[in-house]
Amino acid sequence: ATDPTPISVDGYRERARRALPDMIWSYVDHGSETEDTMRGNREAFSRYRVEARMLGGQPPKTLETEVAGRRVSLPVLLAPTGLTGLSHWTGELGAAHGAERAGTLSILSTSSTWSIEEVAAGTQEDHLFQLYPFSGGDGLRSGSAELMERAQRVGYSALFVTVDVPVIGNREWERLRGMGAPPTITPARAFDAARHVRWTYRYLRHQRVSARNLLDQGGSAAAVESVNRLAGLMNPELNWDDIAWMRDRWPGPFYVKGILHPEDARRAMALGADGVVVSNHGGRQLDQARATLDALPAVAAAVGQQGEVLLDGGVRRGSDVVKALCLGATAVCIGRPFIYGLAVDGADGVRAVLEIFREEIQRTLTLMGVESLEHLGPEWLAPASGPGT
Ligand code: FNR
Repeated sequence: ATDPTPISVDGYRERARRALPDMIWSYVDHGSETEDTMRGNREAFSRYRVEARMLGGQPPKTLETEVAGRRVSLPVLLAPTGLTGLSHWTGELGAAHGAERAGTLSILSTSSTWSIEEVAAGTQEDHLFQLYPFSGGDGLRSGSAELMERAQRVGYSALFVTVDVPVIGNREWERLRGMGAPPTITPARAFDAARHVRWTYRYLRHQRVSARNLLDQGGSAAAVESVNRLAGLMNPELNWDDIAWMRDRWPGPFYVKGILHPEDARRAMALGADGVVVSNHGGRQLDQARATLDALPAVAAAVGQQGEVLLDGGVRRGSDVVKALCLGATAVCIGRPFIYGLAVDGADGVRAVLEIFREEIQRTLTLMGVESLEHLGPEWLAPASGPGT
């Protein structure tokens, strides 16, 4: 018997959990240390309820939004995720196809299993590129410059520089399950992987397991080398001058990803960024960092009308998107939710997850009596309990 098609992000999560070996699941779905920050992203959404007004409105005619100078059909983009080929061999290319089919955009990670050039060649849209500031053998700036040039040459329009990884977060869950560089494969782990027959078949057949942007040529033998180079990328000495230097070299829209404090948002805007992404890396970096929804209002106030504010972390429902927009986000990004869809059904699964978001946003706004995304603001939110206003 085949399982029924999931009807929610949670449904895709359950299916993905069953499809993936434990090691891979620990990489995708867990966070750092206590995981308080990862859970906190979800809890912050639950602390708000929405207002509802009856009998006065029309359903929204469109959910179209402008982000990074582009029109998207809904205010949801795909966050950059590394090593996505571990979850499904089509990896970042499958994610980009799913985004295109839903009329939105994906952000390609520096540590992707499909290269900058492969994703550009395999898609219609120009997608967006995420840069981990590079600190390879010949220095931080030349490594970063090389990646920026490659992305520019094949038409990526916007750049997202991720600044919340001066070192890798302490992800104990994946460490305990052998997801290091190199991975530690015990007999029990190999047995667990082999039980996931479809995953194992595709893994052996396609071997999309190395971070190809960082290698001269791909291939499975290079996987460990690529992951080691990835760890070598992280540069705790990166500073705002480096970001300014990158801004000056990138002609298109430029975003700083991983902002939680309004002063940092102000600095990013002062050096010429077009916007920021309020993010704690899905609770994978600093454990005990604030929930992104809690950090959003002050960051949105700091950015003001000068630029765009995106938010990611724990967005699992259309109502979450609505709450983020009420508090000043232009749009949101989803990380794990699209990986669940990808793990279950490749590009079609990614598209299905985005369609679930679209339907949920549309239905939520209709039930609230909101005719347009532009009408959302803090007055549509109330505390989850207590008399409020
Ligand atoms: C990430 N994230 C991430 N961010 C980034 O800038 N570059 C990267 O390579 C990655 N890699 C990555 C891998 C995996 C498996 C996950 C789950 C996440 C963080 C990502 O862009 C985003 O900030 C979070 O995923 C958002 O939180 P949710 O939606 O996963 O809760």
